[in-house]
Amino acid sequence: MKALLLIACILHSSLSLDNGLGKTPQMGWNSWNHFRCSINDQLVMETADAMASNGLKAAGYQYVNIDDCWQVARFPNKTIQPDPKNFPDMKQLISYVHNKGLKFGLYSDAGTKTCQKRPGSLGYEDIDAETYASWGVDYLKYDNCNNDGTKPEVRYPVMRDALNKTGRPIFYSLCEWGRDDPATWASKVGNSWRTTSDIRDNWDSMYSKVVENDKWWKYAGPGGWNDPDMLEVGNGGMSHNEYVVHFSLWCLMKAPLLIGCDIHNMSKDTLDILTNSEVIAVNQDPLGVQGHRVNMTSDGAEVWAGPLSDKSVAVILLNSGSKTQNVTAHFSDIGMSGTASVRDLWAHADQGMVTNTVTRPVDSHSAVMLRLKPQ
Ligand code: GAL
Repeated sequence: MKALLLIACILHSSLSLDNGLGKTPQMGWNSWNHFRCSINDQLVMETADAMASNGLKAAGYQYVNIDDCWQVARFPNKTIQPDPKNFPDMKQLISYVHNKGLKFGLYSDAGTKTCQKRPGSLGYEDIDAETYASWGVDYLKYDNCNNDGTKPEVRYPVMRDALNKTGRPIFYSLCEWGRDDPATWASKVGNSWRTTSDIRDNWDSMYSKVVENDKWWKYAGPGGWNDPDMLEVGNGGMSHNEYVVHFSLWCLMKAPLLIGCDIHNMSKDTLDILTNSEVIAVNQDPLGVQGHRVNMTSDGAEVWAGPLSDKSVAVILLNSGSKTQNVTAHFSDIGMSGTASVRDLWAHADQGMVTNTVTRPVDSHSAVMLRLKPQ
């Protein structure tokens, strides 16, 4: 009997991810979009200080994640060596972040080298997972550069099992750029999986990630999320309205909310977008159904919608076209009927009742985000 149980346990741990994390999409910050390889412990501490005090932590942002470029070599005993100049004491840095009531994430790669040619974890999964756990790491983003040509379906579970073995719950974020349709297999492997190549800080790039990510909406759910890449809000390449579209769609699509700007020097406008609690509530809704595009005209009048746990429906009226136009959501397209109350999640205003349809004028590259509650 004992032997049977043991076999069952081994089989289970090698077939599934069972870390209890990601019941709602992860929220936090990542260094890559703004800082690239210019990272050090000072930046991480300043970021954690800012997050803990400027309203981001209170809004739900939790992870402070460093991306590529923190590692330089392996010690003779094969453990990974952080850059001695920029990260002289990783364990102490992680305690600093934990003492702010936040969690800490690292980056590695399922290849021999990371994308920036730092040492990867392929072949060193157990030893690296052990090291991360001993430092107190809470999150691992796992990239796909310089791999050995084996399918991601085969390479990524090795690190999952190594993380499981440490006994420390570590959020596991897969980054194979959507190469092998991870939505179809990765819910057993990681807590989120990239569905796209890298985002850039401009409308066309952001919008293309949305369209690619939308294909996989049925595969997301509590414990495992489609990841259209990290946020560019606040990095300066898009207008205020375009960043509102970007954030609204990431929230409706139940995408990870990983801030990619310089938190320490962010504008009030950026902070206001990133801390809109009504929009974040859509992202963090426990039902965990990814909203998707339900209608689009040739002029770019788009309706996006998804159900929420209180039977209301979150709706984005999006204008991806070039001129101001009315955008109409038909209840039959968004899983509703009859009459509903309307809450505008950016205006923070109740806007009365509507029956069968709801229409708003929307400027080019702008969105209105509503929460409709059946009456
Ligand atoms: C890419 C990844 C980016 C970033 C970068 C670091 O492969 O998609 O998000 O992590 O590597 O080199």
